[in-house]
Amino acid sequence: MSRDVPGPTVPQTRHLGTAVPGPRSRALQTERDAALPDGLGRTLPIFVERMAGGIIEDVDGNRIVDLASGIAVTSVGAAHPEVARRVAAQAQRFTHTCFLVTQYEGYVRVAQWLNSHAPGDFAKSTALFSTGAEAVENAVKIARAATGRPGVVVFDNAYHGRTLFTLAMTAKDKPYKTGFGPLPTEHVHRAAFPDPLRWPGSPAPAQVADEALRAFEDLVARVGAEQIACVVVEPIQGEGGFIVPPAGFLPRLAETARRHGIVVVGDEVQAGLARTGTLFAAEHDGFVPDLVCTAKALGGGLPISAVTGRAEIMAAVSAGGLGGTYSGNPLACEAALAVFEIIDKEDLTGRARAIGQQVREALAPLVGLGRGVAELRGRGAMLALELVRPGTLEPDPDAAAAIAKACHQQGVLVLVCGTLGNVIRLLPPLVIDDDLLADALGVVAGAICEQVAAADRVEVSA
Ligand SMILES: Cc1ncc(COP(=O)(O)O)c(C=O)c1O
Repeated sequence: MSRDVPGPTVPQTRHLGTAVPGPRSRALQTERDAALPDGLGRTLPIFVERMAGGIIEDVDGNRIVDLASGIAVTSVGAAHPEVARRVAAQAQRFTHTCFLVTQYEGYVRVAQWLNSHAPGDFAKSTALFSTGAEAVENAVKIARAATGRPGVVVFDNAYHGRTLFTLAMTAKDKPYKTGFGPLPTEHVHRAAFPDPLRWPGSPAPAQVADEALRAFEDLVARVGAEQIACVVVEPIQGEGGFIVPPAGFLPRLAETARRHGIVVVGDEVQAGLARTGTLFAAEHDGFVPDLVCTAKALGGGLPISAVTGRAEIMAAVSAGGLGGTYSGNPLACEAALAVFEIIDKEDLTGRARAIGQQVREALAPLVGLGRGVAELRGRGAMLALELVRPGTLEPDPDAAAAIAKACHQQGVLVLVCGTLGNVIRLLPPLVIDDDLLADALGVVAGAICEQVAAADRVEVSA
């Protein structure tokens, strides 16, 4: 279906003229390996020439379908003309002042938009930063300042970033924490996240929510509410495997936390800003955090993040306590203002829902424990498949890696996630064309079927 939006500058078709990676990417890879540390991993070792809509064109002229959006960043596409126009115009006026030194209007406009669109019918204010981890750390600082308490409750499978404090909040050890200890974990407390697929005893989702809330209450009692500043929760867990909590869990968590004077922080760094079919993922379940962190899709590719929340909580920090040299950089603010306009004009929340439906129609028939696909889950254009050993719930990271590799070789970029590395996640740009998405989903489906057939062959020969 063609859409009434500015046309992308790269043909919106998959095309492979060489193996992936091709010779020019491989040559650059050799130079990269000599110049960069191994600690910087990479998913697909190609080098990018240009991008538009749902296509990544590499330096060998291959056109790869983008089902990753730079990890949920380029929801409006990686080269939307309106983002490019506003950023270029701003670059000609000034690139930087440090907002803490001299101010500019764009920062205020971004804050106003977030204040009026974030969940919650109360007075809000917003502080801008540069990365998701920085937003999360600042939400914790604000909650501590507002409550005078040190503790932070986070969840199993949580991912909040790679700085030392957000690493302490993040659940997965390897590779994120390996060799980086000691981490500041003293006041970080981990609660069970209600994962309906893996909750002990596999009860109905409503019971999973009840039991997880009881576990949260027990943790609060054990630690002492007077020791807990905030609970930080992803409304849909991202790196942890696109786990959607049962209906009602998030609002009940918020109600319980507030009863104990605990600030509720929603980490919407991955799920926020139209990705799930609503502006904020919290909206699906009537969840209203006190503070919400956004980043990734906010800047359409430019680094910007935000903490938006109850004005009286945000006001707890005295002047000079928040911000940083680059926080709310003027180029990134202009990009964010373009993103807000595009979400509205191109109905990207509607697009996310339509993409979700198309993905479900294409991939739901593949789900089945016997086939090793335990679940297709998520919301809108944030969907994932969990791979298990056929007939069991045992995670199968090898199958996920093999499927991802097969997709990459055929020119479709997918990402793997999950605490156990057994989840394939799909995060296409919300401006992807239906036909291109259908083509890419055909490749993903083919790779899964091939993996199932390979597993059967192993079983027969064993
Ligand atoms: C939910 C969530 N929080 C925080 C972060 C950290 O963001 P950044 O990598 O921009 O620091 C991420 C990154 O993936 C995320 O998914």
